[in-house]
Amino acid sequence: MPSPEPAAGAQSPARTAAIWAALSPVVDAGTPLRVLDVGGGSGMFAVPLAQLGHDVTVIDPSADALATLHRRADTAGVGSRVRGVQGDGDRMHAVLAASGRAVQAGAQEAGPEGNFDLVLCHSVLEVVDDPVSTLREIAAALRPGGQLSIATANRAGAVLARAVAGHPVEARALLDDTDPAPGRSRPARRRFSPPELLDLVTGAGLLPGEWRGISVVADLLSASSGAAPAAVRNLELALAGTSPYRDVATGLHVLATRP
Ligand SMILES: C[S@@+](CC[C@H](N)C(=O)[O-])C[C@H]1O[C@@H](n2cnc3c(N)ncnc32)[C@H](O)[C@@H]1O
Repeated sequence: MPSPEPAAGAQSPARTAAIWAALSPVVDAGTPLRVLDVGGGSGMFAVPLAQLGHDVTVIDPSADALATLHRRADTAGVGSRVRGVQGDGDRMHAVLAASGRAVQAGAQEAGPEGNFDLVLCHSVLEVVDDPVSTLREIAAALRPGGQLSIATANRAGAVLARAVAGHPVEARALLDDTDPAPGRSRPARRRFSPPELLDLVTGAGLLPGEWRGISVVADLLSASSGAAPAAVRNLELALAGTSPYRDVATGLHVLATRP
């Protein structure tokens, strides 16, 4: 069954519609949440969540991204509900503790760890030094019963995307999870299979729900396709939880709970 169209992210692009649909029962319940967005960047999720009434802390090493985050939050009129903390996700405990005064500035603030109702980690495990320690830090930042929304690149989707873009050698290397250009200065982004992602989540002591495919078709459509955006969003919602479509999506998403 396709998920219902969420209030959260109702205006989001088709490629993230399935993430917002998964988040909807958590963030549209009418209770203000303490949200931590690890690698939240310029606020693509943080600002809409603050507009829904949630308090959002973003940890990101990029000063530029955090400056854009604050600008975007102020423009949306939710600057008081969004705060940026500069630092790495795999050192989150130390980063939040060091910024304790800023993090604990308001009455509704989450403490340095263990108090967040919801943690987002979207498109970040691909680039952190160590996904295992990042997830361990995230698990510690959640309150018992709190939830993690995690999105990563899907290896199968990357293989197909490289192949249809005319790069069969790269696609073959991705299939074996080897670097098609070893020795380059920037390490290759990590990709994950669904079992690898679920293993990481359970290894951190979290209980994953069903995984979904993110952007099954949206990234395959050219801008000139003429497809109606609302129809593409509906299709994404219908395909996200359905194999074999979800298996070749660009990304993977899972919602997990801290017991
Ligand atoms: C692809 S962007 C994703 C941004 C946002 N989460 C989203 O989904 O729109 C990756 C973000 O991860 C941040 N990042 C890179 N290394 C990181 C680390 N070690 N810990 C936390 N964030 C990191 C980058 O600065 C960037 O903002």
